Amino acid sequence: MRSFILLSAAAALTLASPVPQELDFSLIDTVETPSNVTIPTNTDELVVVYDSDSAAAAVQTSVLTGQTEIDISNSTTNSTSSSTLRRRGTCAVQASGSGPVPSPDTASAFLSYSAFASAASAAATPSGYTQAFKNLNASNNAYGYLGFTNLASYDSEKCASKCNAISGCAAFNLYYERDPSKDPGTGCENPSSTTNIKCVFWGGPVTSSNANNAGQFRSKFQVVIAGSNGYVNNTIEPADGFSSPNYYGNTAIDAPVDCNGQSTFLGSKVFTGGPFDASLCAAACDAQSATNLKANKATCKFFNTYILSRNNVAIGQYCNLYSQTWANSYATYTGSNSGGNKYTVSYSYGFSASADAGTCKKP
Ligand SMILES: *[C@@H]1O[C@H](CO)[C@@H](O)[C@H](O)[C@H]1NC(C)=O
Ligand SMILES: *[C@@H]1O[C@H](CO)[C@@H](O)[C@H](O)[C@H]1NC(C)=O
Ligand SMILES: *[C@@H]1O[C@H](CO)[C@@H](O)[C@H](O)[C@H]1NC(C)=O
Ligand SMILES: *[C@@H]1O[C@H](CO)[C@@H](O)[C@H](O)[C@H]1NC(C)=O
Ligand SMILES: *[C@@H]1O[C@H](CO)[C@@H](O)[C@H](O)[C@H]1NC(C)=O
Repeated sequence: MRSFILLSAAAALTLASPVPQELDFSLIDTVETPSNVTIPTNTDELVVVYDSDSAAAAVQTSVLTGQTEIDISNSTTNSTSSSTLRRRGTCAVQASGSGPVPSPDTASAFLSYSAFASAASAAATPSGYTQAFKNLNASNNAYGYLGFTNLASYDSEKCASKCNAISGCAAFNLYYERDPSKDPGTGCENPSSTTNIKCVFWGGPVTSSNANNAGQFRSKFQVVIAGSNGYVNNTIEPADGFSSPNYYGNTAIDAPVDCNGQSTFLGSKVFTGGPFDASLCAAACDAQSATNLKANKATCKFFNTYILSRNNVAIGQYCNLYSQTWANSYATYTGSNSGGNKYTVSYSYGFSASADAGTCKKP
């Protein structure tokens, strides 16, 4: 009798302690670190058009066929109006930007030019947004590039209104960039500069830590950035069929077993190649339910989705599925190390199915 009690206590312990919804390293170790975006210099505007419905359909198809790492890049297209395209080629004259050119025309004068700092410090935070950082000398490498536009003035409201009109835009970065007046190369290694006022759109949050692009050399011309401000939209798009989300910040749900000692975790997916979009995880939840119903298994009633970073670089949108809704207090997981890499959680949201949030019932 005594040994039986010990055995069941041990069994209960092994049931309650594993937390399989922590990162699936077999899934994420193969996700490639995205390359840094190069913002084209031969145009004043590039819009990355993101089709959320087509991406959700791709996710659904992939989940139904058992895939867990899902590339949605085919649901984005680059669009540039050909009228704004400029000639490239050594010493080709580039269009003038709208910002002032400091004197002397050097990178260091640009970086210490007080008008850039004052414009950045004075810029209004657009309604519905939170300012993430102010007046840095670097632009962002954030998650899900959605294009850029050169503005006529340093105008945070204008940049926000453009972001609001772009599907998937979660954040923007506004800054002054010292660019060459001619395409640098043999015969014009270090041309005079022009100042572009850039507004860059992202499908995930901009932060001071991903504001890490301080410019580069093009031939002997030094591209530098000043007056860089970042703003993040306070809300995310809702997901059809799910309640409004709970926000967990830099933590993910780490759920125990349910009231019957059963795991409620239904697996993980990771999405790459597009902006953060909760609808993708909602589509995965619904598709997993369809698969599970056929196998007589529990259906998906709750999901937690977040931006997964490897060594502080956002590599994808992680998506964990559950048969039951868990309270915010279970959002305790912040990430782990694997294979010499540090994985962390950010921008984490939980959504419950509107029709049935999955309450545990004792038999
Ligand atoms: C992206 O740019 C940052 C900042 O310059 C750099 O640290 C990082 O290595 C670059 N990433 C890749 C994949 O090149
Ligand atoms: C994207 O589309 C191309 C062309 O149709 C196809 O070959 C490729 O497999 C697609 N990629 C994904 C990840 O679906
Ligand atoms: C879209 O533009 C980005 C940034 O310039 C580039 O990295 C990407 O390859 C482009 N995609 C396509 C399909 O042309
Ligand atoms: C930007 O560069 C200027 C000039 O070198 C310097 O004074 C300022 O502290 C820099 N700003 C940041 C945030 O590093
Ligand atoms: C922020 O995002 C929400 C949801 O995507 C969108 O409806 C809204 O237009 C965006 N802008 C503001 C200012 O809320």
